[in-house]
Amino acid sequence: MPVLFIWLNSLRKTVILVGTVAALLFLIVVRLKNQVSFPLILNCFGQTSVKWMPFSYTQRRPLRTHYGYINVRTEEPLHLDCDICAIISNSGQMAAQKVGYEIDQSSCIWRMNNAPTKGYEEDVGKRTTVRVVSHTSVPLLLKNPEYFFRETNRTIYVIWGPFRNMRKDGNGIVYNMLKKTVDNYPGAKIYVTTEKRMSYCDEVFKKETGKDRVQSGSYLSTGWFTLILAMDACYRIHVYGMINDTYCKSEGFRKVPYHYYEPGRDECDEYFLHENAPYGGHRFITEKKVFAEWAKKHTIIFTHPNWTLS
Ligand SMILES: *[C@@H]1O[C@H](CO)[C@@H](O)[C@H](O)[C@H]1NC(C)=O
Ligand SMILES: *[C@@H]1O[C@H](CO)[C@@H](O)[C@H](O)[C@H]1NC(C)=O
Ligand SMILES: *[C@@H]1O[C@H](CO)[C@@H](O)[C@H](O)[C@H]1NC(C)=O
Repeated sequence: MPVLFIWLNSLRKTVILVGTVAALLFLIVVRLKNQVSFPLILNCFGQTSVKWMPFSYTQRRPLRTHYGYINVRTEEPLHLDCDICAIISNSGQMAAQKVGYEIDQSSCIWRMNNAPTKGYEEDVGKRTTVRVVSHTSVPLLLKNPEYFFRETNRTIYVIWGPFRNMRKDGNGIVYNMLKKTVDNYPGAKIYVTTEKRMSYCDEVFKKETGKDRVQSGSYLSTGWFTLILAMDACYRIHVYGMINDTYCKSEGFRKVPYHYYEPGRDECDEYFLHENAPYGGHRFITEKKVFAEWAKKHTIIFTHPNWTLS
């Protein structure tokens, strides 16, 4: 009798143990499955992707949610995670570079404002994953909404601008335009930079240069906002067509237009004009000096023209 009792007792323990292990395994499987079909995860091509998150930690960074960028239609934060990012400058340096094919091989391709690809594919590539756009350039996109918001609706649009234009209470002139755009083009993926994130970008400028952006009478450039987001979202960054801080004073520099898609204005003239403007300028040259510092901490390379970073 006692033997049978002990045997039954250990059988009970075994059943409990096996049951517990089975329940744990079940929970783990459910968790993995939920992560796999997590609906908000976008990969760089705008499709939902299969990612086994618990195991990816050891191989690469986890997926990123960017709370400083909010979808105008859904009010959800931006989900973006890229391996190799190509950031294409709008500079005239891009003309005749013939790197379009190379650019199109990158996992994510970033462009700024209304920089076109149509007609320039050979030099700048065809694909656009993210387009970072200044509040002042939104009207330029709205000149061709069918192209930007229907034809290329896989592109993520990230708009930056000051609070007065971006406020959501009906008085933000640019925000209102974007709201109307997503009503007309429900497939458009348009995100606005939050006020908090805008302040953060100012703080970064102050930390890097020791200067207060507002007091120094300047505006940050779209390139600045692009690099800050890209450093969060990309594993590696390759910047094409951006000149460095000493380029315009270096021997035999190339005189090119400010934009590859617009003749006329000269790049270096524009840089000096902005750098020295007492009010309302972009500190392009100062920013480039900061970018060179960032490139020492992040994996960033600059080519066409090449920067030498030590
Ligand atoms: C998105 O773009 C594709 C290809 O250009 C088009 O067929 C589709 O209708 C667009 N979707 C929306 C919601 O506009
Ligand atoms: C610039 O860098 C690229 C890639 O690192 C290299 O292939 C190319 O030869 C360099 N060009 C010049 C002019 O140094
Ligand atoms: C900046 O650009 C100039 C002209 O291309 C080049 O000679 C110089 O080495 C570059 N400096 C750095 C630090 O990349």
